[in-house]
Amino acid sequence: MPEPDVPERPTPTGRKRRHLEVCLGEDVDFQTRTTGLEDVELPYHALPGTRLADIDLSCTVLGRRLRAPLLIGAMTGGERLGARINRSLAEAAQRCGVGFMLGSQRVMLEHPRTRPSFLVRDLAPDVLLVGNLGIGQLIAGYGADEATAAVELVGADALAIHLNPLQEAVQGGDTDLRQGRDHLAALVEAVPFPVMVKEVGHGIGRATARQLRGIDLAAIDVAGAGGTSWARVEQFVKDGEVRAPALAELGVPTARALIEVGAELPDVPRIASGGIRTGVDVARALSLGASAAAVARPLLEPALQGPDAVVAWIEALLDELRIALFVTGVGSAGELTRRERADVADATRAEVT
Ligand SMILES: Cc1cc2nc3c(=O)[nH]c(=O)nc-3n(C[C@H](O)[C@H](O)[C@H](O)COP(=O)(O)O)c2cc1C
Repeated sequence: MPEPDVPERPTPTGRKRRHLEVCLGEDVDFQTRTTGLEDVELPYHALPGTRLADIDLSCTVLGRRLRAPLLIGAMTGGERLGARINRSLAEAAQRCGVGFMLGSQRVMLEHPRTRPSFLVRDLAPDVLLVGNLGIGQLIAGYGADEATAAVELVGADALAIHLNPLQEAVQGGDTDLRQGRDHLAALVEAVPFPVMVKEVGHGIGRATARQLRGIDLAAIDVAGAGGTSWARVEQFVKDGEVRAPALAELGVPTARALIEVGAELPDVPRIASGGIRTGVDVARALSLGASAAAVARPLLEPALQGPDAVVAWIEALLDELRIALFVTGVGSAGELTRRERADVADATRAEVT
């Protein structure tokens, strides 16, 4: 279907372009809040009884085996720069054996000419690939057909639905979320592939987790506060500056989000994201029960340089993670997740709850 000649203002691709420009050029980190992961003390073990080279980072996420508990977070697609970024990220994900989450595919379904920018399977045949749509699209009428198209057109293994009320409110977007839960539940029932939910950096906490009870979600990416603030990004996009800084600081910090979602939905695998910047962050998130972590904005700049720069960034993080696990006395990433070691969890609960 040809694209209409008279696009809405701003065009979806224009908006995505502005998101990239702002994320690359402005200070869009939370200014006063942190992830809380810095308060999670990994129990240091001075005589671990293991060998660094033997530390096993592999894990299973959404039914797929990964070489390490890491996904590249959902970012982009839809225009020329997005295509370049997605192709760098996909090639790096394949080389590193980590997962890759595409950015929102709404633009791809509504403007078919943008499809090629999401097509990365040729570069990433073995990667856990996650498609992406927003809760706003489900409320607006997207159902199993559109979700299936999003997954099948790119050859994804699973679909993430992003929940982003603060971003939408600041942007002036979809803010009637009354039917959100029902539409999400109906979608999960109707499709054969795994569906996960994610925030975009303001966090999924206790109240949201309670709302999600009873829905057969394959995972929850908490996407907590402490990294990229989308309420900051949208203010830069709209006004060229941050006029409501307090709004941009709202959210559930990543560590707290992991604990609260784990308490409410202990059987749903958790992915840690929002401000994950180091291998130690990943280790701390695993110790709070996360199955894996995801990193978004830090990979933008390397992605523009090319796949080698993304691979270097990821491998440095994984080297650091391996050392963190070694000196924590566990032999594998899964062991740390499984243990949810009482000492760590208790100390952290006391500090962040
Ligand atoms: C440039 C950019 C575009 C993004 N686009 C999407 C998107 O389309 N869909 C989505 O679910 N999240 C999107 N996100 C949010 C990220 O997936 C992530 O949840 C958030 O940035 C917090 O992680 P970080 O602190 O590692 O950046 C985007 C992030 C960035 C930096």
